Amino acid sequence: MIIKINNKKYSAAKGQTILDVAREHGIKIPSLCHHPDLDVRASCRICVVEITGRQKLATACSTELEGGMEIYTDSARVQKSRNLNIELIFASHVEKCSSCTLRFNCDLLELAREYGIKITRFPDRKVKRKTYKFANAVEIDGTQCIDCGNCVEACHNQGIDFLKISGHGHEQEIQPVKAKGSACIYCGQCANACPVAAAQEQGEWQNVEAALKNKKKIVVAQFAPSIRVSLGEEFGLPYGYNCAKKINTALKELGFNYIFDVNFGADITTMTEAEELMARINDKKAVFPMTTSCCPAWVAYAEFYHPELLPNLTTARSPHIHSAGAIKSYFAKQKGINPKNIEVVSIVPCTSKKYEAARPELTYKGKPLVDHVLTTRELAFILKKNKIDLAKLPESEVDPIFNDGSGAAAIYGASGGVMESALRTAVSLACAQKKTKNKLCASRLEFKEVRGLKGFKEATVDLAGKKVRVGVVNGIAHFEALLPKLHKYHYIEVMACPGGCLGGGGQPLPTTNAIRQKRLEGMYAIDKGKTKMRRAHENQPMVEYYQWVKNNKLASKLLHTKFKATNK
Ligand code: SF4
Ligand code: SF4
Ligand code: SF4
Ligand code: FES
Repeated sequence: MIIKINNKKYSAAKGQTILDVAREHGIKIPSLCHHPDLDVRASCRICVVEITGRQKLATACSTELEGGMEIYTDSARVQKSRNLNIELIFASHVEKCSSCTLRFNCDLLELAREYGIKITRFPDRKVKRKTYKFANAVEIDGTQCIDCGNCVEACHNQGIDFLKISGHGHEQEIQPVKAKGSACIYCGQCANACPVAAAQEQGEWQNVEAALKNKKKIVVAQFAPSIRVSLGEEFGLPYGYNCAKKINTALKELGFNYIFDVNFGADITTMTEAEELMARINDKKAVFPMTTSCCPAWVAYAEFYHPELLPNLTTARSPHIHSAGAIKSYFAKQKGINPKNIEVVSIVPCTSKKYEAARPELTYKGKPLVDHVLTTRELAFILKKNKIDLAKLPESEVDPIFNDGSGAAAIYGASGGVMESALRTAVSLACAQKKTKNKLCASRLEFKEVRGLKGFKEATVDLAGKKVRVGVVNGIAHFEALLPKLHKYHYIEVMACPGGCLGGGGQPLPTTNAIRQKRLEGMYAIDKGKTKMRRAHENQPMVEYYQWVKNNKLASKLLHTKFKATNK
């Protein structure tokens, strides 16, 4: 069909909305509550447009196109209405811009600037609203909420349904469900869907800034696999662009004493997990399936909703906890630094890692292994606040002793990546145990069946003659459907966020399915490029560290963890 926007003809397909076609052709229509992956609720009315022949203005995000429509996106009527709607939204949103991590890319602030709105004519009607904090990971600040409902849908899509809309009109509020059988798993998907940072991570950037100013501390940064393909988005770099070496430079400019790559830790995780998988396979009494446990939101889910499955979880710690262990033990020893003087800052795509870092069992010499956790968004905020433009920075390498990990580590942030990494090493371990002379035995490198954005993926793989059935749950909402047939598998990966960590609750906004796909492609490209080291056990410095841990009988302190039921 042919339609007209601002007097210019465009063709459009049936089912497309005005906003879809406007975006396709670079025509600016502001929006707030619209999220491409969520239901259209058209609550903010920022995207209103004028349609010839219609008395009322229409919301572009919810109005499907009809042949011959004539649309005006910036007429005097549209501007007047938009202006009023922005003021109404500011009346709902108590501005806390100076400490808000969305400040440098806030659509609402941008609209206020564009429409010259300085002081709202309406009183801040939500000033007395509560802030609900979920452990130390996520919060919903009612004073900033504009009632779009996106967070409630995001949590529902996770299958958790921990959030509800209570009250009506001016009394409306987002609240946690207080029911006994309900718990937040700290995945942060609500924060990913919030247009105004009312649902967001509990920020730690102030603590990190304070640590960087403390001259008595050695402040060490380590960054997770997936942030290298997402942080660049905040600075105008293409989706999926690998900016790892720019991140090293940026972190040095911020004043960190040492910079390490969590990919090194991911190789430790793979080694630990693959060894455990082989040990279970060789033990007739072992519990199956073994499941991954590197996603703290999945661990929180299992501990609360399925404590009967805790023996299934691998005891391998997660990558940033593993690399923090290497920093506070091996690295500290080599450098002659007292680990008590080291502050480790993990930079991750994840809100639930804030909760994980505070778990009492993940300490070393009486202190947490990871002292602070920043999300990708928090790092972008600190860099922008310090006027560091990541896109323009030169590249540099991580600090020596540890390296930037194998290709297997690089794919940890994609759903299926943890499984594929463990299988690459497990195949080699199985062939070595069998002492086979057949060189083809350990040759399998890629497990493409477990890749991609489908909700559940599965494969049967050959570990030196033993057929092993594996499955990957992509997004926690897909776990319950697997339960009745769980016993049929040997090994299951569960990542709570859709797409895995590349779609994590601390990633840049927006995070949509289309963007997840680009980040995923970026990760697999890094793996392909690591031609000489695509398996964790080929990472020589990691193997040396791993052996050191075992020789010093530190495995229980640095490699393994435990879990406990929380719904008692
Ligand atoms: S963090 Fe996850 S589980 Fe908790 S409220 Fe948000 S979406 Fe729901
Ligand atoms: S917290 Fe954010 S996503 Fe949830 S209703 Fe409020 S504004 Fe919308
Ligand atoms: S999938 Fe990744 S980002 Fe999401 S909660 Fe789990 S570990 Fe965190
Ligand atoms: S973006 Fe269309 S109504 Fe909010």
